[in-house]
Amino acid sequence: MKIFLDTANLASIRTYNDMGIVDGITTNPSLLYKEKQSPESVMREIVELIKGPVSLEVIGTKSEEMITEAHKLVKFGKNVVVKIPMIPEGLIAVKRLRDEGIPTNVTLIFSANQAILASKAGASYVSPFIGRLDDIGQEGMVLIREIVQIFRNYNFDTQTLVASIRHPLHVIEAAKIGAEVVTLPPDILGKMIKHPLTQTGLDLFLNDWKKIDKDLLI
Ligand code: E4P
Repeated sequence: MKIFLDTANLASIRTYNDMGIVDGITTNPSLLYKEKQSPESVMREIVELIKGPVSLEVIGTKSEEMITEAHKLVKFGKNVVVKIPMIPEGLIAVKRLRDEGIPTNVTLIFSANQAILASKAGASYVSPFIGRLDDIGQEGMVLIREIVQIFRNYNFDTQTLVASIRHPLHVIEAAKIGAEVVTLPPDILGKMIKHPLTQTGLDLFLNDWKKIDKDLLI
């Protein structure tokens, strides 16, 4: 399973990238807004920093606008994946970009039918937003199970990128189902690293080490 970070925060990206646990990045306009910096320079820096796929989202809602934006975004680096919303105009853009060999990530997926159509249009990734489904009382993980099964049944080459993840259990469930990618906010990746028994265990070891007679330490 690949782990992407769902953020535009350069400090977090650097921290986790240095640990070798980040396979790629996803961003969106809201995440870029939070950084209060030029979105273009942030996007360029992320693309330079990360070797793996970096999803950068278009703002246009007409296919021609999306395609023009995509052409600009892919100039930032070879690892750019163009994020396109799951709307009819978006599917037209996905098909055209696929024909040009430009990878896409179809975002704002909330049903298996949307995932099937995005894949048919030529999406490299589909991003089902499970947390937002959980928020309205529908079990997001059920959607992941459906999409993964359908794509397997027909050997679709689109990868399922589990998005809108809210806690570490979402990651374990997605991994058990066999989704190819999860994209996580940095704080959730941080929670996955920690375990209280690891910390108390380490404290105990270090404490006992301090008690060793100094003369015995060569
Ligand atoms: C995915 O690519 C999106 O950026 C993201 O996962 C949305 O998550 P949210 O529901 O926490 O905003």
